Amino acid sequence: MAGRRLFGARFFLFSSSSFPWAPSLRLSCLLLALLSPANGIVSAATAPLKFGINYGQIANNLPPPTQVSGILQSLNVNRVKLYDADPAVLTAFAGTGVEFIVSGGDLATMSDASNARAWVAQNVQPFLPATRITCIIVGNEVLSGGDTASMQSLLPAMQAVHQALVDLGLDSQVSVSTSQSVNVLASSYPPSSGVFREELAQYMEPLLDFHARVGSPFLINAYPFFAYKASPATVSLPYVLFEPNPGVHDPGTSLTYDNMLYAQIDAVYAAMEAMGHADVEVRISETGWPSGGDADEVGATVQNAAAYNRNLMKRVAAGQGTPRKPDVPVDVLVFALFNENMKPGQASERNYGLFYPNGTSVYDLGLDDGTSSGTSPTTSGVYSSCKPMISFPKGVVVLLAAFFL
Ligand SMILES: *[C@@H]1O[C@H](CO)[C@@H](O)[C@H](O)[C@H]1NC(C)=O
Repeated sequence: MAGRRLFGARFFLFSSSSFPWAPSLRLSCLLLALLSPANGIVSAATAPLKFGINYGQIANNLPPPTQVSGILQSLNVNRVKLYDADPAVLTAFAGTGVEFIVSGGDLATMSDASNARAWVAQNVQPFLPATRITCIIVGNEVLSGGDTASMQSLLPAMQAVHQALVDLGLDSQVSVSTSQSVNVLASSYPPSSGVFREELAQYMEPLLDFHARVGSPFLINAYPFFAYKASPATVSLPYVLFEPNPGVHDPGTSLTYDNMLYAQIDAVYAAMEAMGHADVEVRISETGWPSGGDADEVGATVQNAAAYNRNLMKRVAAGQGTPRKPDVPVDVLVFALFNENMKPGQASERNYGLFYPNGTSVYDLGLDDGTSSGTSPTTSGVYSSCKPMISFPKGVVVLLAAFFL
């Protein structure tokens, strides 16, 4: 999904700010959530959900940002990643408490200190603190993109942006990172064998040094869908969809993996440790599953997309870590908020959204009582009341309350 995503804005959601509907309704939802036994899920009041959404805007039919703000608030998404720093979006979210991860400009330009400072001064500083921008992503999937000039500019650009934040007194509230494809790995299976591609070591080593020094996470875009699509006969569908399965044993660690995403995260941890860095956290800047695709895109269905995102959300809400890092809750930004009708490439690229542009959910994300088939957008998660939550299994009520209230 490489560079294309640079041009869109994607979001990650979750928040608890003002509600467009009746306050009493909101309050009853909240009480319901807080009173429900958590079944091992920590209280919504104390557990910050590490879940957000990518807000891509490669489309000509999306609602204006002011309406999107309402959608996100109604979803209770509190973290959103943009593929730019669209001032219309950042302005629309002022005062909402939603956390923003924005994406920086051209790498060659940004690697110049004064340009980087001008960019931060123009695109980030004016929106703080009303809009909560917490991270600037510099470059998307650059190290697997094959553009040597960009690869060489990546770290200098990140350093320049970081220095600009220091100079402007913003570095304690805004961090700098970059997102990489899992394709930076030469080996990812079994996870303990994870190692970066040899030709990338010259970039990866100083990049990890930078992350460790400034304390920012290493971000990866990971799509088990691609692995499944490439080899549906050999890759287990339940394994990639977080459905029950026997799991995969890693002989290097004796750990067992019941899903591919966690295996990919741990492969990155292993690769980083092989480079001497056990001091950098791995987070997922993009993951998702398309609800539709071309005829040759096996697995791109509404049912699979619903299963992937629903199961992932449950795990994230439960604060689950990976087998290698059980105490580090998996941190995920789902791709994506909307279907984007102008994205190039195969049909799946235009069908990652949780929502159609009209605000109707593409599939049942677990908002209702589960009786809908998931093949038709029976509920608008955006505009419906919270009433359906009452019949939801109590173990996930906390998640739903936090995510969709
Ligand atoms: C929203 O758009 C989808 C996809 O085009 C469509 O199926 C659905 O009926 C629309 N919903 C409403 C309420 O217009």
